[in-house]
Amino acid sequence: MAHRILITMDDLEAAVRLNAAFEAAGYETSMVSAQDDQKAAVLRDDPDLVLLTGGLHEPAAARLLGLVRDGRVATLGLLEPTETDATAVAHRMGLTAVLPKPADAAETVALCRRLIERKQLQERTGILGDHPAIQEVLIKIEQMAPVSSTVLIEGESGTGKELVARAIHDLSPRRARPFIAINCAALPETLLESELFGHEKGSFTDAVERRLGRFELADTGTILLDEVGEMPPSTQVKLLRVLEEREFFRVGGATPIKVDVRVLAATNRPLREAMATGDIRSDLYYRLNVLSIYLPPLRERRSDIPLLVRRFIHEFSKLHDRPFRGIEPAALQMLVDAPWPGNVRQLRNLVESMVVLAPTSEIRPEDIPRETREQGRERLLPVKVPGMAREVAGQELTYIVQSLLDLRLQVEDLRRRLEEHPQRVEVIEVPHEAPDSEVLVSGGPVVSRGAEAGRAGRPRDAVVYETGMSMADVERATIETALAQTGGNRRKAAEMLGIGERTLYRKLKEYEAGGGSISSLT
Ligand SMILES: Nc1ncnc2c1ncn2[C@@H]1O[C@H](COP(=O)(O)OP(=O)(O)OP(=O)(O)O)[C@@H](O)[C@H]1O
Ligand SMILES: [Mg+2]
Repeated sequence: MAHRILITMDDLEAAVRLNAAFEAAGYETSMVSAQDDQKAAVLRDDPDLVLLTGGLHEPAAARLLGLVRDGRVATLGLLEPTETDATAVAHRMGLTAVLPKPADAAETVALCRRLIERKQLQERTGILGDHPAIQEVLIKIEQMAPVSSTVLIEGESGTGKELVARAIHDLSPRRARPFIAINCAALPETLLESELFGHEKGSFTDAVERRLGRFELADTGTILLDEVGEMPPSTQVKLLRVLEEREFFRVGGATPIKVDVRVLAATNRPLREAMATGDIRSDLYYRLNVLSIYLPPLRERRSDIPLLVRRFIHEFSKLHDRPFRGIEPAALQMLVDAPWPGNVRQLRNLVESMVVLAPTSEIRPEDIPRETREQGRERLLPVKVPGMAREVAGQELTYIVQSLLDLRLQVEDLRRRLEEHPQRVEVIEVPHEAPDSEVLVSGGPVVSRGAEAGRAGRPRDAVVYETGMSMADVERATIETALAQTGGNRRKAAEMLGIGERTLYRKLKEYEAGGGSISSLT
């Protein structure tokens, strides 16, 4: 079916000339003037691309863009030659792309074709965003999907690594074959090996049956090794062998198994850094890093936030059957300014909760949770950072400054609390039979003995120290409390405790070996 282009008539000469070029290239076109009913035109023509021929700073242009602004429709603006900063205009207006005038007809048609194809790819993969960094990711996905080479996908938590991995698989010739993901940080070492490579019957106590590993299950398809930077050294050696020879042994097996699997690897922590600290072998690093994709954190592509917010509002209002008008400009600005440490995932979850909880059919500033509002950039003071070795881009600098301010506030808060209540950091001994309310009177950091005491009515948000506990007991009680607070979520608990997930698993395993288990584990 022919793609549809809606052309504005602000620059009539350009509009007529380009209209003819689009028609000659097989597109369906229509024109709209600033005086026409733009909404009716958009509804009637359902364009794939809107081409603004001029008047970019006029209210009519903003109105028209507002009608197509949830990101499904590509938008191209033609800029006057006097306009100096094209990128800034594109960002401010939320345009997919801009071209300086006079726009060459063939070049404009070719660019529009690419923009429409890119939008279709975004609809297909769910990877939203007009920011150049996301557009670059999409180009890479298109280039990398058809081949079988290993791809390393790097980016902070919630930036869309799994989304990208699925997109690569779905656009590859393997799309009809299995896509298998495994989180390398979520399993203790021996289990991870048997998950990846399978095991033979009787190879260890619980191995009552032969079991196929994920590599065998993914044969002819794709495997995603998530959090590959957390893989234990012995497993790394085995993985290296698979990458080099495409063959491995099941745990306890003697026959080599051959597989045809495309390997994708994802990591929150830059893998080069993991190599520098010796957590990842260098030969494995180079094997994994054949092709690579980096997903920027949301704070480095804030111009995409309005589009994401609108899309998520649309998605969740449909899902929860809540007719929703949208978001007030002041509320949207707060979301654009927030730091988003949890990236797109955090934004998506927040929008869902606001769509469900907002009392009116529009998100207002007061519907945004206080933490998000207060963490916004407006809190920032202008700070000069002396001696910066390289040029730091505005948003990156904002983030650095914000982190420094946060850190300073935390340190000040801690110091103040220590000065005010030195006794609060003392260890407080509590008799076994003390009821919860008494345990907490001090309000300070209190620790309690192991799992048994914990189950006997210890509050879930405090660790209570009792006479005779060793440091190991304290550690165990702390881990149990963290797990209780995170509802058994090991990843969050590890994060809360400031230790690696793998360290947490090792400790849990040690406790298991020493008898007993952690009660709140899920
Ligand atoms: N560019 C994007 N457009 C739309 N949705 C996105 C985008 N990036 C991420 N998301 C959404 O954010 C959520 C988190 O994405 P995903 O699971 O791919 O992140 P991740 O990088 O794998 O995170 P983690 O490291 O925590 O596993 C998902 O709901 C995903 O659909
Ligand atoms: Mg992930």
